[in-house]
Parts: sequence; C-alpha cells; structure tokens
Amino acid sequence: MTYTHRHLLGIEPLHPAEITTILDLAETYVEQNRSGDKHSDALRGLTQINMFFENSTRTQASFELAGKRLGADVMNMSMQTSSVKKGETLIDTALTLNAMHPDLLVVRHPHSGAVDLLAQKVNCAVLNAGDGRHEHPTQALLDALTIRRKKGRLHRLTIAICGDIAHSRVARSNLILLGKMENRVRLIGPPTLMPTGVAEFGCEVYDDMKKGLEGADVVMMLRLQKERMDGGFIPSEREYYHRYGLDAEKLAFAKDDAIVMHPGPMNRGVEIDGTIADDINRSVIQEQVEMGVAVRMAAMDLLARNLRAARAA
Ligand code: NCD
Repeated sequence: MTYTHRHLLGIEPLHPAEITTILDLAETYVEQNRSGDKHSDALRGLTQINMFFENSTRTQASFELAGKRLGADVMNMSMQTSSVKKGETLIDTALTLNAMHPDLLVVRHPHSGAVDLLAQKVNCAVLNAGDGRHEHPTQALLDALTIRRKKGRLHRLTIAICGDIAHSRVARSNLILLGKMENRVRLIGPPTLMPTGVAEFGCEVYDDMKKGLEGADVVMMLRLQKERMDGGFIPSEREYYHRYGLDAEKLAFAKDDAIVMHPGPMNRGVEIDGTIADDINRSVIQEQVEMGVAVRMAAMDLLARNLRAARAA
C-alpha cells in the first residue's frame, strides 16, 4: 500500500496512486460496514478527537462512526461551548489537546489554511474535514469512490460540477482529484459564483446548464454557501432555480445513464428538484453518505499505519 503522508490535509499533495490506495482500502470497509460484524481493530489503542468549528451533520457523524468501527477512543469536542468562545486561539486549543496525546485529530474550520497551520503544531495525524473554501479531501474521496462504483471507472468521464463553485471547498477538492485521475471536468454556474483563475485547472466553464450538461456522465450539484457570501451573488432563489436548479428538463441534456450527486446539505427547490434527488434510478446521494464512512475508515487506517511506523522507527 502506498500512502506516504503524515496527514490528510488536501487532495492537492496526493499522487494518483495514493488516491487509488485509499479507494481500494475503502472498498474493503464498504463490505465490513454491510456485514453483521462492523468492527475491526485498525485503530485499537488510539485516541481520535473531532474538532468541528463549523456545523456538520454527515461529516462529523461519519468520522465518529468510522473511528468507533475501527476501535479508536473517539471524543467529540463541542467547539460551540469550548474555551474558543472565551478567546482562546486555535493554536492554544490545539496545544492543549495535543498534551492529552491524541493520535488522530479531525478538524473542520471556517478559515482556509487553519487546518494546515494546526497540523504544524501537533504531533499526531491531522485530517482536514473542511477548511473554509480551500479543501474537503474526504468528501472528494467519497465522491470518487461513489463514481468509481457506479461507472466502473474513475477516468475519462465527463463530470459537471454545478452551482456555487466560488465558495465551495467540495468543488475545489473534486476538481483537483478528478483532474488528477484524467477526467473531463466542467464547471457550470453564474459568473458571479465562478472563481477567477479556474482555467488553470484545465476545466471548461459554462454559465448555461443545458450546454454544460450535454453528454455528462456525472452531475454534481452544490448548495449556495450563503454563510460565505457577503452580498447579492444571485438575483433571487427563484430565479436561480429557474436557471441553475437541476430539474428533469435540464437533466435530460446529460447522458441517459448520468448519475446525480450532492454532498449535502441539500436545499430542495433551490439547486435541485426534490423528485430528482429522490429518484433512486438517478440520484446516488445516499450512496455518497455510505461511502463517506468507508473512505474515512480507510484514510484513518492508513494514517494510523504511518503513525505507528514513525513511532517505531
Ligand atoms: C459540505 C461542506 O461542509 O463543505 N458538506 C459536507 O461536508 N457534506 C458542503 C456544504 O456545506 O454545502
């Protein structure tokens, strides 16, 4: 198995072979999670601390379950009630936790780069569970696993990522991963929600859904990240839905067997029509959640192996 890093901070530093290593190991955890005995002991004796400085449902729950199924002691720090509210800096909080000898630290933070900074201050493995609009590596990996299982491959596919690209770490991590695996990525959204400089990633940019979805194998929808907007990026949600919301009429432009994805949380009637989201023949949104647990188990397993090897050396 090849995964040489101490942390999982982003997709950017990963080699395609490392991405494949994580996905292959995750496949074994998909099986374990579907079996009668969901437990194994890759993380036995290790302590995992989850620090979420931003709201989360799926990501926090799946990191917690992943750690527990692998036998770790898992602690969820509730950052809303922690000393951060009393003015403690991120670094001081990290150093305090570090003194308790955690082995795995799972961190979500509203500022891009905060998780990288924290990783430099602690001597355990750090997993980025989303930092600002920068990266959300485990989301891109679970999306990749879902695509690979549904399409039978993870290369030479046409993948449309639609909506609020500018504020989305999910879009950024996916764009990097899918590019590394040699797919054709299209970004579709209003110009106000398109980041500058996307051309350097070698993707195509569209502001018309029907044109952008033409012939797509995968349609990935994103939420409007209003918490990261400081003004009027769209005229109204109604108008946005009309132009960019995924409904049957727009989806008909994609391939007949195109799959529909969404990282959640979903805003029905804003970026996606509820019937499309619930259509079990098209939507793989629930599979994405299932793959999330398996991918996080694989990532923590690989980091724990490296941690143990480094400590033994
Ligand atoms: C995403 C996130 O937090 O970046 N959610 C998730 O992790 N599944 C996307 C979002 O908040 O819209």
